[in-house]
Amino acid sequence: MLERLERLPTDPILGLMAAFRADQDPRKVDLGVGVYRDEHGNTPIVAAVRRAEQAVLARQTTKSYVAAAGNPGFNQAMQRLVLGEGHPALADDRVRTIQAPGGCGALRLGAELIRIAAPQSVVHVSTPTWANHIPLLSGSGLRLERYPYYDAASGDVQFASLVEHFERLPARSVVLLHASCHNPTGADLSEAQWRTLLELVKRRSLLPFIDIAYQGLGRGPAEDAFGIRLFCAELPEVAVAVSCSKNFGLYRERTGCLHVSLDSTRAADAALSQLVRIARSLYSMPPDHGAAIVLEILGDAGLREQWQDEVTGMRKRIAELRQSLVSSLARTCPARDFRFIARQRGLFSFLGVTTSQVHALRERHIYMTDDSRINVAGLRADNLEYFAQSVASVLQG
Ligand code: LMR
Repeated sequence: MLERLERLPTDPILGLMAAFRADQDPRKVDLGVGVYRDEHGNTPIVAAVRRAEQAVLARQTTKSYVAAAGNPGFNQAMQRLVLGEGHPALADDRVRTIQAPGGCGALRLGAELIRIAAPQSVVHVSTPTWANHIPLLSGSGLRLERYPYYDAASGDVQFASLVEHFERLPARSVVLLHASCHNPTGADLSEAQWRTLLELVKRRSLLPFIDIAYQGLGRGPAEDAFGIRLFCAELPEVAVAVSCSKNFGLYRERTGCLHVSLDSTRAADAALSQLVRIARSLYSMPPDHGAAIVLEILGDAGLREQWQDEVTGMRKRIAELRQSLVSSLARTCPARDFRFIARQRGLFSFLGVTTSQVHALRERHIYMTDDSRINVAGLRADNLEYFAQSVASVLQG
């Protein structure tokens, strides 16, 4: 039976990771998979994570199950991290959280919950959106449609077209929004645009499903959660998928959660009971280790401060790299304006070159996805010039 299965192409992002590893050329530059890299090109274990991990392991006396909803201390700490201390939805006791295997697990749990509540729901995702949003959400059986988002000519959000699209959506449509550090474009909604969307989402009775995978790496921990905090305070229903992969550097530990902020304690409790059932049927329980580390960090003033400093360091390095990249490209490609890269936030930007130019760059051992998404953190003082020269040479054809 199984021998008839067709072989599938590799995942566009993970396939690139494997191709980069196999490349033996010393000049190779990895701008593919979205992991933070330091000035040596490494993705080190965050120092606060290492300390917290040692404390967790020293104290741990059992590997017995925790719970389908995960570690309650982690879930509460993540509510406060994302929503902020004293958020009105927390004060009203109308937020519930389930720990999830990474942000991906949280997205899928949210999609399954929406499907159970309203199987005909359509989820509207930005054009473009992170490639894995599509299978993660549609795999639950929900239909997906697209809304305009990125204006390649300016490098900014096409906000008027987005608003026009949302104005036409039927009530109870689901809109998937990126809290900050939009993947793959780096173009974020401004605070004024979030406020405009709030009014629109409220008036049209849309359900916002917000993905936050880079809290702290854009403008700052509170700033990157601005839209979530606003929406959860003002709207009766919001779902939020949270990843700890990037800001805690816990990628392989698969650590994240899903918050649901609803209009009453009763509704929130009911949703959580459904989520627990969904998790039980998919994977039973989330992995514990990463969540235990995050809880240790967020619950200890010293560790928390150290972690915040490390996140600030990552954010500053990314912002500086963006500036340096714009300067280098201005020198090597004077005919083209790349200043939008410095206005964007987070790990990603589109370089804005064609797929064949992306392939020509790969010939020069520079790796990025076919849509020309670059992970800015993959650049370093010692490869920036090679990269900028290579872009110039492929643009000249
Ligand atoms: C990315 O966009 O490269 C990251 O979020 C990693 C992944 O799983 O795709």
